[in-house]
Amino acid sequence: MKIAILPGDGIGTEIVAEAVKVLKALDLSLETETALVGGAAYDAYGHPLPAATLKLAQDADAILFGAVGDWKYDTLDRPLRPEQAILGLRKNLGLFANFRPAICYPQLVDASSLKRERVSGLDILIIRELTGDIYFGQPRGRRIATDGHFPGAEEAFDTMRYSRPEIERIAHVAFQAARKRKASGGAGRVTSVDKANVLETFQLWKDVVTEIGLQYPDVALDHMYVDNAAMQLVRAPKKFDVVVTGNMFGDILSDAAAMLTGSIGMLPSASLNDKGQGLYEPSHGSAPDIAGKGVANPLATILSAAMMLRFSLNQPEAAARIEQAVDKVLSQGLRTPDIYSEGTTRVGTVEMGDAVLKALG
Ligand code: IPM
Ligand code: MG
Repeated sequence: MKIAILPGDGIGTEIVAEAVKVLKALDLSLETETALVGGAAYDAYGHPLPAATLKLAQDADAILFGAVGDWKYDTLDRPLRPEQAILGLRKNLGLFANFRPAICYPQLVDASSLKRERVSGLDILIIRELTGDIYFGQPRGRRIATDGHFPGAEEAFDTMRYSRPEIERIAHVAFQAARKRKASGGAGRVTSVDKANVLETFQLWKDVVTEIGLQYPDVALDHMYVDNAAMQLVRAPKKFDVVVTGNMFGDILSDAAAMLTGSIGMLPSASLNDKGQGLYEPSHGSAPDIAGKGVANPLATILSAAMMLRFSLNQPEAAARIEQAVDKVLSQGLRTPDIYSEGTTRVGTVEMGDAVLKALG
């Protein structure tokens, strides 16, 4: 099994190192190869997604990705910015289905900014469409400028679009996920989030999801406008089971959902294509403000590695070992600053990784 390791920028290198350490301790025959991506690749090769990095990712069974981006690249032309690396990987590999589970560990209920009773026992799954929508509309990101540069631009536009097949396939993913969760005690409900009251794109979205839903009579379906969904997520998050939405809304709602769990530093993600190949990354970004300080929470990345073992490498037992180890270190009271609360023990990135390693048993 070949894994491409793409740490990226900022805290990416620190957190990925901890996840790799944990993976290597599992005694599986994993072959890993590391490459530069994002700003780091731009600095070395002049491009955020060099051809060799893309090829490595394409040829791998799975990709473990850290994070990309740093304010120092903000003035670059858009195609050269670090973020284009992750967008390019998603598009080139066809990673259309993004799973962002938001689970509140009982040990972390008090780290959430919401009241204990609102988040205790929370277990929801956000499924974000990842290769369409306004992120990839045509033409994309072209600013109309007389001199071709940003400062003189008079207008800017992006186009939001979805095709029926794009919506159909993500809807199937969501209904199947809800069905699977129902088998193990889930509510068996899909909430499709749209803005059909204003946008044609999302009227189509709603119509197509409704149509596909007829094929899953055992799964309940409801629809919610995105503004209301944002409100309900913080008002009564446990009412959700599986949430399916487009690329843009999913980006925003998954950050909001992350905070319910205590910290975005806890949220793993999987991005899959129709061949089961996947890219695994924490839902958070490169956090340049804390990069190099050794305080970043590596758990989202470690949990992403567990998702990788389960979804792409068919190693559910190894995945469970990692998840149980994470649970154990939280029970031991170890906390990086983002999840720290009174009475617990503050640790750094490496210490947290070491603790998970030790807890693997
Ligand atoms: C995410 C990130 C990315 C996105 C950025 C880094 C391009 O915010 O994975 O949620 O917007 O999709
Ligand atoms: Mg985001």
